[in-house]
Amino acid sequence: MKVIQLGDPILRQKAQPVAEITEELRSFIDEMFATMIEAEGVGLAAPQVGKSWRLFVLITEDNNRLVFINPQIVATSSELVAYEEGCLSIPKTYEKIMRPEKVTVQAQDEFGKKFLLEAEGLLARIIQHENDHLDGILYIDKGDADFKKKIEEQFAKRAERRELKNAQKKAKQAKIQAKIAKKEGNSLNA
Ligand code: NI
Repeated sequence: MKVIQLGDPILRQKAQPVAEITEELRSFIDEMFATMIEAEGVGLAAPQVGKSWRLFVLITEDNNRLVFINPQIVATSSELVAYEEGCLSIPKTYEKIMRPEKVTVQAQDEFGKKFLLEAEGLLARIIQHENDHLDGILYIDKGDADFKKKIEEQFAKRAERRELKNAQKKAKQAKIQAKIAKKEGNSLNA
């Protein structure tokens, strides 16, 4: 799976509830974990890999893999704490973000079983960050406005350069194909 980068509209969409938890979905979840670990992340939301579904995965500090399907944060502590956040969709960018220290979340696991989890510290942080992804919210929305603007412009430029490169590649390929076609034509004429 490819992790989608800032600038892609899917990261700004409100994701849809997961209607059915199937074997296929579990395979998708396995791939999400593999992608997250490969990218050295601690959490990953479905929209980041191109599916606008209310689903995210994370790995805890003691190496437990947790799956949250149709999650809802039902309570947050009034106490806020600052912590430096990054996002696999906004690589090599970090900012200190204020969030509630504790959250209570309810969700379904990969077998559809409902659970309620009270989390604090890093776990609470990851849950909030990933849950935000399902509503099209990114951590840069919660930080400094100038920083957000700078980062969004930087990624828009990157996306532009990527598109230009792809267009050049396509044009080159078309040229090569035209050359091949010409040669084939010649050999048929000979
Ligand atoms: Ni993220």
